[in-house]
Amino acid sequence: MCVILGIESSCDETSVAVCDNGSILSNIIAGQHVHEAYGGVVPELASRAHQQNIIPAVHQAIKKAKISKKDINAVAFTRGPGLLGSLLVGTSFAKAFALGLKVPLIEVNHMQAHILAHFIDEPRPAFPFLCLTVSGGHTQIVKVNDYFEMELLGQTLDDAAGEAFDKTAKILGLPYPGGPLVDRYAREGNPDAFKFPEPSVPGLDFSFSGLKTSILYFVRDHIHKNPSFLEENMADICASVQSRIVSILLNKLKKASGETGITQVAIAGGVSANSGLRDAVQEAGKALGWEIFIPRLEYCTDNAAMIAIAAYYKYLKGDFAGQDVSPLARWSL
Ligand code: KG4
Ligand code: ZN
Repeated sequence: MCVILGIESSCDETSVAVCDNGSILSNIIAGQHVHEAYGGVVPELASRAHQQNIIPAVHQAIKKAKISKKDINAVAFTRGPGLLGSLLVGTSFAKAFALGLKVPLIEVNHMQAHILAHFIDEPRPAFPFLCLTVSGGHTQIVKVNDYFEMELLGQTLDDAAGEAFDKTAKILGLPYPGGPLVDRYAREGNPDAFKFPEPSVPGLDFSFSGLKTSILYFVRDHIHKNPSFLEENMADICASVQSRIVSILLNKLKKASGETGITQVAIAGGVSANSGLRDAVQEAGKALGWEIFIPRLEYCTDNAAMIAIAAYYKYLKGDFAGQDVSPLARWSL
C-alpha cells in the first residue's frame, strides 16, 4: 500500500488529492473567486487565499478518501513552475506535514504532472507518445519518452494558448476567467463567420500575440461602424477565434507527428478542456490513424490528482526531496 497526499498551489487553485497505489481516492479543488473583480489572477491575493484554503482542503481530501493521517506514506507538492508566493504556501505546508508525519517528501513539476494526468485513468498512453500541453502559462509539444523523460519539441514564443483565450475574452468584454466563456459562446456560433490570420512560425513553435492584435483591431474597427457589433456577433466571433486557435495548435501537432512518426497523441492542461480542441483532436485522430488521449475534464485544469499520480511514479523510484527544497517560479520539463 502506498498512500500519497498531493498538494497543488501553483496559481489560483488550492487542490489536495489522495492517491492509493496509483488510484485517486479524492481530489479537492478550492477555487479563488477573489480575482474575478480584477480581471486576472492577483499573485498577492492568490497566496493569501491558498493560506486560508489549504488546511480545510487537506482535511476534506483525507475525509473523502476515507483514510486517516497515519495511513499517509508520502507528501507531494508542486515545486514549480508557477507564482512564487502561491508555490511557497504549498511547499511550506508539504514540508511541515511530511516532517510531522515522518514520511518522505516528493517534489513535482507542474507541467510534467499535467502530462502524467494521463496515467490516472485507463486507457493509458504507451511510451513514447506526443503531448500537446496547453494551459494559461504554457503551450508545449512534448515527446514523452518515459514518466520523467520528456523532450520539449516546440513551445510558444510569446502568449500561451490559454492566454490567447483569456485575452480574447477580455477584448470582447467577457468576465474573467474568459477561456471557458469563449468556448461556451463558440458552441452557438459559426466558425467561418470571420477570418483571423494564422501566424507563420518556423518548426514546432507557436505564436499567439499577432492573433491577439488582429482581434483587437477587428473589434475596434467594427465597433466604430456599429456600436452593437459585439452583442450581435458574440457567438460568431468566439467560434471564429476558437477555430483559429485550434487550427494553429492542430497544425503543429500534425507536423510533430509527421516528423517523429509517433501516432499516440495526447492533450493536457486547462485548454484541453476546450470543446473545439477536443473535437478537432478526435477528428484528426480518425483521419490520420492516431490513437488519442484526452483527459477527463476535472484533470485538464489545475488539480492535485495529477500531482499525486506523478508523485506515485517518483515514490516507486525512491525519488524524494529534502527539507531544504524551495519552490521554483520557472522550471523546465
Ligand atoms: O492548466 P490550467 O488550469 O492552469 C495553468 O497551469 O495555467 O489552465 C488554465 C487556462 C486558462 O487560460 C483558462 O482560460 C483555460 O485554461 N481554459 C480554457 C477552457 N477551460 C480552461 N480555455 C478554453 N476553453 C476552455 N473550455
Ligand atoms: Zn496548470
